[in-house]
Amino acid sequence: MADIYEVGVVGSGIMGAGLAEVAARAGHEVVVRSRTTAGADDVLARITKGLDRQVKKEKMTADERDAILARIRVTDHLGQLATCDLVIESVVEDLEIKKALFAELEQIVKPGGILATNTSTLPVVELAMATQRPELVCGIHFFNPASMMKLVEIVRPVTASDDTIARAVAFAERCGKDAVTVEDRAGFIVNALLFPYLNNAIRLSENGTASMESIDTAMQGGCGFPMGPFALLDLVGLDTSLAILDALYAEFRDPNYAAMPALRRKVAAGQLGRKSGAGFYTYD
Ligand SMILES: NC(=O)c1ccc[n+]([C@@H]2O[C@H](COP(=O)([O-])OP(=O)(O)OC[C@H]3O[C@@H](n4cnc5c(N)ncnc54)[C@H](O)[C@@H]3O)[C@@H](O)[C@H]2O)c1
Repeated sequence: MADIYEVGVVGSGIMGAGLAEVAARAGHEVVVRSRTTAGADDVLARITKGLDRQVKKEKMTADERDAILARIRVTDHLGQLATCDLVIESVVEDLEIKKALFAELEQIVKPGGILATNTSTLPVVELAMATQRPELVCGIHFFNPASMMKLVEIVRPVTASDDTIARAVAFAERCGKDAVTVEDRAGFIVNALLFPYLNNAIRLSENGTASMESIDTAMQGGCGFPMGPFALLDLVGLDTSLAILDALYAEFRDPNYAAMPALRRKVAAGQLGRKSGAGFYTYD
């Protein structure tokens, strides 16, 4: 089983930044690709800010922060990922965009390099079939915030080799995560179970059963959840949440996965949650 040293991350949003930090903390050389130089600078600034906070709270030393940052390079050129042993794609949850990206990565990344996706729901096999190396394609699904959440789902499309899955599991474990292996079905384990709950929370609020504040308070106090469903939807991002529900519904046709109109309208209005400053709640 070949070791993974250099890790590429494509996408510099919420998850791209988190993945880069987690991989660099685990000792990997990391290169993060954003589409623009401004995006590349911004992702490095966000990672630095997060690590500075850790230093301030005395959870890490300044030397440790500097060593982690020294392992992260940012770029706006996909070609910089050529030497990576593993590339994790973490761009917008859109199958056509991801397929085009996998076809491009196929041309760029060295032979033997694993091409993984951080998709929440989309069919990994379709990304595998966009490449000439389907045996080297799998899902490596981190959770948000990536530096804090213990779980990683390793998604096995029917095309993946056992060696690819074993290397993906070893990578997740080296990052300090608990890895579970799951078949390539929309939503995998966590989102297949979580999203009917989130969607039904919107239904409950829409039909006047309770306010969203009451629903959030109830699920925290009554179930011991760290945050309620509306706060969680805002954290995940409402566009990402809608894409997840649409993919689940497309695959299973279960009415619990049919996205509530209120969610679709908020996304249409550009209210995407924390990342845009407003979603179900507003943020400074
Ligand atoms: N947000 C979560 O809680 C969460 C958790 C686990 C996995 N994911 C998955 O991670 C991936 C990224 O989600 P995120 O929350 O970081 O989203 P985000 O909106 O924060 O970031 C999306 C990124 O995609 C880029 N992008 C947009 N259009 C693009 C295009 N046409 N080509 C290339 N790049 C493009 C954006 O510039 C941005 O860097 C998605 O597949 C999502 O399902 C999200």
